[in-house]
Amino acid sequence: MVSNRLPVDCVEAADGTKTWRTSPGGLVTAVEPIVEQLGCVWVGWEGSASTGGEPFEVGSMRLIPVELSAREVDLYYEGFSNATLWPLYHDVIAPPEYHRDWWDSYVTVNERFAAQVAEVAATGAIVWVHDYQLQLVPAMLRKLRPDLTIAFFLHIPFPPRGLFAQLPWRREIIEGLLGADVLGFQRAADAETFRLTAEALTGCPVLGNHIALPARDSSPARAVLAQEFPISIDAEAFARTASEPEMQRRAREIRAELGNPAVVMLGVDRLDYTKGILHRFKAFSELLTDDELDPTDTVLVQVASPSRERVGAYMQLRDEVETAVGRINGEHGSVAHTPLVYLHQSFDREEMAALYLAADVLLVTPLRDGMNLVAKEYVACRTTDDGVLVLSEFAGAAEELGEATLVNPHDIEGLKSAIVRATTMPIAEQHRRMRAMRATVRSNDVANWARSYLGAVSGAADAREAGR
Ligand code: G6P
Repeated sequence: MVSNRLPVDCVEAADGTKTWRTSPGGLVTAVEPIVEQLGCVWVGWEGSASTGGEPFEVGSMRLIPVELSAREVDLYYEGFSNATLWPLYHDVIAPPEYHRDWWDSYVTVNERFAAQVAEVAATGAIVWVHDYQLQLVPAMLRKLRPDLTIAFFLHIPFPPRGLFAQLPWRREIIEGLLGADVLGFQRAADAETFRLTAEALTGCPVLGNHIALPARDSSPARAVLAQEFPISIDAEAFARTASEPEMQRRAREIRAELGNPAVVMLGVDRLDYTKGILHRFKAFSELLTDDELDPTDTVLVQVASPSRERVGAYMQLRDEVETAVGRINGEHGSVAHTPLVYLHQSFDREEMAALYLAADVLLVTPLRDGMNLVAKEYVACRTTDDGVLVLSEFAGAAEELGEATLVNPHDIEGLKSAIVRATTMPIAEQHRRMRAMRATVRSNDVANWARSYLGAVSGAADAREAGR
């Protein structure tokens, strides 16, 4: 496995002792159980400017760190990955910035990842590269190690052609990706947009779900599969955690700590402008003003885990979110009641499961999201089939979870009525919807995702073998 971030971040104390903390984000949630099951090594960055280091083990996982200098953290990670590609691939919700020195650093770091993988991969191995930070690695790796089968999975959306066209290095990115044998996307629409973009930029024709590459120099003609493989979670593990009596006790305790309100709503996101947190707050605040929600008997708990804190758009968002929290509680709170509980923190899986159990309604309102695994986690934890999921149409998860209360988060009136419907939904309807969603999440779980993706990758490996 190869991803920008390892599943653990290194936290170094003042005395130099190192501890490990689970990394944020959906990629790690999904990939970690697969790595544990397959027993493969994981190549990635430890999460702070570092001089790299020796391979190490966490639990049963063997991790190989890749070094990033402080300058590379600035230019490659915070710059090109998270202030160019991230906003460009998320419908330019924030304006992407295009800087040539950011791009140069992206190329250098991708080369380092490719070299590191080329050094450790066994002959004929399958290498699975993840996400937008490493889109050049497939072609770089193929040059270094033509014996490998290379798979790539994009965890975030692939942008519409007109937006992708803005990128000065659009052709290089497409050629980088086409170094893979299999390209996985979250949604069929992402895969299709990619195929058409690749055809337009390289002239290589699309044949069904493949892009046909001609023979070039010493490399034979080959076909790259570009298809959707919607990612998921270890549903069984979440359900098991949620069923523990200790979790249920903690969920009751959380409700009591909140003052046992009639309605507990929950939001769980990285603090990111793609997540629609301010839209959610606006709807909530107007419902309190309009007396459609009772501020003394309703609580919205918003977990906003710290993310990319040195990137300008994230700093600005944090200011806006925290101003909104202050305004809402200032206007609608009292000495006894805080209607909006804001937690700029990360929690472990147990506390998250307890929060999911404590919440009558989960609000997932991104303006654009590759999948959104929080929605699936909530569903997996609701083993008693009650609870309501309010879900943005612009999250990949909406394609599978059609029984959620679907919303367009830009439509504040629509979002308000969806929240009212969610808080007043009859229990029989809650059961019907949640049962259907739980069946979907249970059958399309992360093991299934890996199985179908790796099935396609083995097919590609066999085809390569046959063509040799
Ligand atoms: C999203 C991305 C991941 C990323 C995660 C956390 O889930 O798809 O690639 O690792 O966010 O972001 P960070 O910048 O902290 O790695």
